[in-house]
Amino acid sequence: MILGIETSCDETSVALLDADGTVRANLVSSQIERHKPFGGVVPEIASREHLQTLFPLLGEGLAAAGASWSDVEAIAVTTGPGLIGALLVGVAGAQGLAYGLGVPLISVNHLEGHIFSPYLSKEGKSIVLPERLLCIVISGGHSSIYDLVTSGGNTSIARMNRTRDDAIGETFDKVAKFIGLPYPGGPEIERHARDGRVDRKRFPMSIAQFKKEESTDFSFSGIKTAAIRLARQNEVRADGDAATLSDFCATFQNALLAQLFDRLDTLWATTGQPRPAEVAIAGGVAANGVLRDQLEAWCAKRGVIARLPDRRYCTDNAAMIAFAALRHGKAEADPARVVARSRIG
Ligand code: KG4
Ligand code: ZN
Repeated sequence: MILGIETSCDETSVALLDADGTVRANLVSSQIERHKPFGGVVPEIASREHLQTLFPLLGEGLAAAGASWSDVEAIAVTTGPGLIGALLVGVAGAQGLAYGLGVPLISVNHLEGHIFSPYLSKEGKSIVLPERLLCIVISGGHSSIYDLVTSGGNTSIARMNRTRDDAIGETFDKVAKFIGLPYPGGPEIERHARDGRVDRKRFPMSIAQFKKEESTDFSFSGIKTAAIRLARQNEVRADGDAATLSDFCATFQNALLAQLFDRLDTLWATTGQPRPAEVAIAGGVAANGVLRDQLEAWCAKRGVIARLPDRRYCTDNAAMIAFAALRHGKAEADPARVVARSRIG
């Protein structure tokens, strides 16, 4: 079995996977309640919580998998990008375990964890990657579309775009915070949007308004600024008029997703041959139900598969880290060579 450890942000997670990608255990301890009073993640609190949680969670993970330390043949740990103090807890812990158990340590890029996560199964071995696919990674810290080509068991990953400013999840969170919704804002906006209708007249946040010609990059700060201005003008508040709140959330969510599909359309047209057979989504925002429905429709139109991750693998988790190590990792003979980096590439 391979042991995965993830501590890059505000979730402590450990997982045990078989070599075929079967998830034997995937435990996630969220710190959300500890950060809620501050409306965002406080790095120092995150590190301390990881320190307290990691080792008890490892014991629980082994028990949940019905395994013992002697079953662990390799360890995968997130080395970045992320909060440096938080990453260090996982990396130092993993190094100690690798030395102690005499097993190899594999450094995993958090984003690669997300990228492969849609191919983890709910039950049993992992899903086989097609020869080519696009994966949209959308989280609190990242918004990028990747082009994955697999041959002979090796996958090459090319980033097709990025965000020029805020990440999409961050935009959900900031606007939600402004109108007084609790952290994290994405699920809150989605929940309120369910009862709302897209009202562009009252809340003009059109995609055309913010489309940067000649660029396939994302840019969400224009939508954020417009949304905050409109919320102020229309007195949109979490504790205010419910219909106004719902319409605002529906329109704002719609504007963010419209930009996502606008860039996907443009990048799709550049892919050439072989055509990607699947479009996957990953990261916290991939839990969004409206996005999932829209991607299904987008893919159905083009005759490709929408690869939607199980919701438990959308937000940060160690199963995806262990899986990325299986798919893409290189083991370090000396665990001391594995280092945490807050920024990568
Ligand atoms: O991947 P993740 O757990 O952490 C990061 O690596 O950032 O993603 C968290 C982000 C937050 O910004 C949160 O608001 C967003 O994912 N999120 C959602 C939904 N669920 C989580 N955004 C929109 N709709 C959702 N249902
Ligand atoms: Zn993440």
